[in-house]
Amino acid sequence: MCGIVGYVASSQRAGQHQAMDVLLEGLRRLEYRGYDSAGVATIADGRVAARKKAGKLANLVAEIEAAPVVPALVGIGHTRWATHGGPTDVNAHPHLGDGGDLAVIHNGIIENFSALKAGLVRAGESFDSETDTEAAAKLIGQFYRGEAAGDLTEAMRLAVNELQGAFTLLAVHADQPDRVVAARRNSPLVVGLGEGENFLGSDVSGFIDFTREAVELEQDQIVTITADEVSIMGFDGVAATGKRFHVDWDAAAAEKGGYETFMEKEIHEQPKAVEDTLLGRTDAAGRLSLDELRIDPAQLKGVSKIMVVACGTAAYAGHVAKYAIEHWCRIPVEVELAHEFRYRDPIIDSSTLVVSISQSGETMDTLMAVRYAKEQGAKTLAICNTNGSTIPRESDAVLYLHAGPEIAVASTKAFLAMITASYVLGLYLAQLRGQMFSEQIADVLADLHQIPQKVQHILDHADAIKDLAREMAQSPSVLFLGRHVGYPVALEGALKLKELAYIHAEGFAAGELKHGPIALIEQGQPVFVVVPSPHGRHSLHAKVVSNIQEVRARGAKTITVAEAGDDAVSEFSEQVFFVPETQPLLMPLLTTVPLQIFACALASEKGYDVDQPRNLAKSVTVE
Ligand code: F6R
Repeated sequence: MCGIVGYVASSQRAGQHQAMDVLLEGLRRLEYRGYDSAGVATIADGRVAARKKAGKLANLVAEIEAAPVVPALVGIGHTRWATHGGPTDVNAHPHLGDGGDLAVIHNGIIENFSALKAGLVRAGESFDSETDTEAAAKLIGQFYRGEAAGDLTEAMRLAVNELQGAFTLLAVHADQPDRVVAARRNSPLVVGLGEGENFLGSDVSGFIDFTREAVELEQDQIVTITADEVSIMGFDGVAATGKRFHVDWDAAAAEKGGYETFMEKEIHEQPKAVEDTLLGRTDAAGRLSLDELRIDPAQLKGVSKIMVVACGTAAYAGHVAKYAIEHWCRIPVEVELAHEFRYRDPIIDSSTLVVSISQSGETMDTLMAVRYAKEQGAKTLAICNTNGSTIPRESDAVLYLHAGPEIAVASTKAFLAMITASYVLGLYLAQLRGQMFSEQIADVLADLHQIPQKVQHILDHADAIKDLAREMAQSPSVLFLGRHVGYPVALEGALKLKELAYIHAEGFAAGELKHGPIALIEQGQPVFVVVPSPHGRHSLHAKVVSNIQEVRARGAKTITVAEAGDDAVSEFSEQVFFVPETQPLLMPLLTTVPLQIFACALASEKGYDVDQPRNLAKSVTVE
């Protein structure tokens, strides 16, 4: 939520990289984090040049092209997801302090900003915007002129000790054209290391075009970057060192690669995402071995309960995980939205394993749930796609997805990878606890390894789904039904349609329909039904077929997603999308795909931006 970049180069680099080029390129890559407005500030000729514009980055770029700023070697840039104050030019970042000589950008929420603002107004400051950030800018400016005596790092340090909430702050000052100073508490920030130039970014994509060498920062740290140096200290002023890492994907992985949109690209990357998530999980004897988990297997063996915490799509992956893990391991699994979890006094002890699922590894609600679980003595395990992000860093154990960068705001390939990783975890626990025979585990693994080619088959035969999406572009409402693992798939299908196509969509457990929601059905109401395998629990298949008949009897137009060869559903469906056969528990890896394609195609038909849907942002770093 909000993308942040910072850049400093030595004068020798002048002519190679201008700060403005680096900042705009970084913002282009980080725009998925927020696109309500964008802004930059550079320092040249002893002055701050700040430009900011409401709307997408393209608006800012057009403005800068029309009236270029003086070339500079230092600067900061921001792309905003609005919290305090609407998405206007005035509320866009940067915000200025110290009489306009200081520029500040911010990701997060400063919770005590009203009290700070009141004090700053009493001290003679005046405010232009409705943002919390402007209070931070004025506060840093006050310290810079006063107690910190012209030391920008110290001014930042004194200021952050007065702030409550979550923030990444970056500051530049007209008097100090050789540095950017940044601070982080509970919001993401990484340093990129160059030669004669250094970078800051909300994540590595902010500088991936220029370097793949990076440094992780801990919570409550301040970093000062110059062209040749990176110095880190705690909020207490004590010097610290960061952990260096190499980014194992390159800039091309974050490009559209011939697709019109990142969303289409990522939907098509799903066979590889599943394959990469499965890669290297078994030893020479074919047994699952999860070395990267970095947790003592004996501890996992003693787990008496699993609680999955996650948000949105990741939480739906957690619902799928519940069915599989309980079935394979006979351990009770609860799934809870991370933002509800810690406020209800959950029953946790040292034998509870709290599994977080997060693509970004930065979702604040999930991070707070993980911290809460640790405080209560639980073991924490992160299923995550983003190497070095905060949630895996703060967890006892981690299972990375290896699905590659997901840029489209709405999650697709990470969902399939999360489900795959949670199956791997479930099978591993079953192996450790002796709940399944090794042949049974090998059998599921073999079927999992078949999934990529089956997803590819669906992708290769998607024309009918896209045609239907075009026909249904004007539908005001679509319902989704499923049972068992098909239920979270129905929820995910509805979420994709809501967020991409802005259509009212609801997912229901098919059995719940008769308890109320069936009242919504009227003539022509489109209802997608995720049909379980006829080869699994036969009674469940028959029950879903009955549910289809119930809604059809009331005028619904039913569209089914069913297993190839399931002729029983055809006669009750306006249209059927068949997916290849697999084990019943693995079906979400296939049945989700037509629903993603449908939502994406329908939104494109309506002319919407599927990569950056309105009001949303990837990586939700506020509570
Ligand atoms: C929906 C979507 C969101 C995220 C949720 C959690 O398409 O992308 O619902 O799944 O915000 O994000 P992560 O996985 O980064 O924790």
